[in-house]
Amino acid sequence: MNGTVVIATVALVLHAIAAVVWVGGMFFALLALRPATAPLEPGPRLQLWSRVLGRFFQWVIAAIVLLLVSGYGMIFGVYSGFRGIGLHINVMQGIGIVMILLFFHLYFAPWRRFRAAVARQDNPEAARQLNQIRWIVTLNLVLGLVTVAVGSSGRYWG
Ligand code: HEM
Repeated sequence: MNGTVVIATVALVLHAIAAVVWVGGMFFALLALRPATAPLEPGPRLQLWSRVLGRFFQWVIAAIVLLLVSGYGMIFGVYSGFRGIGLHINVMQGIGIVMILLFFHLYFAPWRRFRAAVARQDNPEAARQLNQIRWIVTLNLVLGLVTVAVGSSGRYWG
């Protein structure tokens, strides 16, 4: 195995695992956990989301670091820079950056307000902030699925 093959293999594996963790986690939260928490009383439901999302968002931050390091690792280590990359990598990078900005907006605005509201047991405000988080995560899930489709099929576009 030469150096480029090693970089490509290691980076692609880490990149795909990071994408699975982030996108799969959003899918699970919205389509499995959310409907399952609906019958709970507001207090316990909001506490549960606070504990669940607190853990999940730490993994999302790790996934973002890994996606960026492995993605740009491939661009510079395998494709010798931006001139060597195809349309699909540009599209993936563009959507990926939008997803990352949306996540950090979520993390520093509604998530921070949600935790403060949960701490002072202001359930209506916490529910409002959780709703905002849900809309951003829904948008990021759609963008994430599109990015996975683009990233995994793009090399065959011709
Ligand atoms: C933000 C900057 C990003 C950069 C610079 C980047 C870069 C790359 C590169 C260079 C490849 C290899 C493509 C090829 O060889 O044809 C790739 C593949 C891939 N990327 Fe990204 N990417 C980024 C973000 C993302 C995001 C946010 C996701 C999904 C959430 C994602 C999902 C994928 C997938 C699924 C593949 C295909 C892996 C495979 O073939 O198994 N990427 N990316």
